[in-house]
Amino acid sequence: MISKKMKNALGGSSLIRAMFEEGHRLAGIYGPENVFDFSIGNPNVPAPERVKTAIKEILDEEDPVVLHGYMSNAGFEDVREAIAQDINKKYGLNLTFKNVVMAVGAGSGLQVVFRTILDPGDEVITLAPFFGPYRGYVADNGGKLVIVPTHIGTFQPDLAAIEAAITPNTKAVMINNPNNPTGVIYREDTIKGIAAVLDKKSEEYGHCIYLISDDPYRELVYDDVEVPYTLKYYKNTFVVYSYSKSLSLPGERIGYIAIHPEMEDAEDTVQCLAMATRDLGYTNAPALFQKVIAKCLNESVDVNVYKKNRDLLYNHLLSLGFECAKPEGAFYLFVKSMIPDDNAFCDAAKKHNILIVPGSFFGCPGYFRIAYCTSYAKIEKSLDAWTKLAKEFAK
Ligand SMILES: Cc1ncc(COP(=O)(O)O)c(C=O)c1O
Repeated sequence: MISKKMKNALGGSSLIRAMFEEGHRLAGIYGPENVFDFSIGNPNVPAPERVKTAIKEILDEEDPVVLHGYMSNAGFEDVREAIAQDINKKYGLNLTFKNVVMAVGAGSGLQVVFRTILDPGDEVITLAPFFGPYRGYVADNGGKLVIVPTHIGTFQPDLAAIEAAITPNTKAVMINNPNNPTGVIYREDTIKGIAAVLDKKSEEYGHCIYLISDDPYRELVYDDVEVPYTLKYYKNTFVVYSYSKSLSLPGERIGYIAIHPEMEDAEDTVQCLAMATRDLGYTNAPALFQKVIAKCLNESVDVNVYKKNRDLLYNHLLSLGFECAKPEGAFYLFVKSMIPDDNAFCDAAKKHNILIVPGSFFGCPGYFRIAYCTSYAKIEKSLDAWTKLAKEFAK
């Protein structure tokens, strides 16, 4: 018999699974071209061409026994050093390979961080709306997720609410910038404000409270908005990074964890991150793609593709009376549902072949998320369906 814990978790995620299956069912009836699946954040922009040439070069250059073999659980030292130097160049820091641990994407990076820092009953604060799987990442490692709402409408952090939520059991505050599901970006003064709260509360409770910065959308930014680099503002920070979105490589499972060189117990922390990587069964990040990343540090995907999608859909939704903060990054729109029951609204959208995710999954009922990392042509084709959906709920 499977565990009660997993059985319950299955119940919690059945909505998304049902939606996924519904997408297939609808595609079978109406044809895939007539189903508007905005449910999953799977990038539609291809990875840079350099990824392909890098793979070929590496296969020719490297000793296969080394390339395909076990390695340090933290990853190849040369790759970790290349990433550290890249961070230093971009953000004026002073990292070395000793401050970087390779990860199997951001999802595993977060698991590894929580296994490293959490004792049973420790609390992790996150800001709603948030990436739904955070619930499992924290619970799996014995922690308790404490959800603090952001300001309604702007979805910017409420510093007073964060401060009020911190207790002697708080181990970390976790942010995600640019944000999934809202696409909003926290500015420098906000990050400085969070750092000040954490300094004050760490002092008050006599132990450090970590900041975890989940950064997979760091480069997916529009309109020249600057995303502050969290490590610059608070020493006890874990930056969890992934190439799933920034280089469109979600299937390759590659990312890293970076810490400030002056983090409390930095050396032991990195050793524990490496040990956690092994203990959780990842062992190490994929070898070939670590090497690929080292050759692709200056590469990027064409963010203008997402920006065009955002503009088309955002403007259309606004013209229909929907309310939504204009995303400045990532590739999601977080829209106010036209009825309070977001699940019912998403069900109604399905009748128009539109697949979207209820805000409840992100800890924010009354909204829904659209992932617009799909083709422009598909979005254009969906506009009529959105119009019909809005008319159904017009007051
Ligand atoms: C905010 C956020 N964090 C983490 C992840 C996990 O990403 P990865 O594919 O790197 O595990 C995602 C994926 O969508 C995400 O949106």
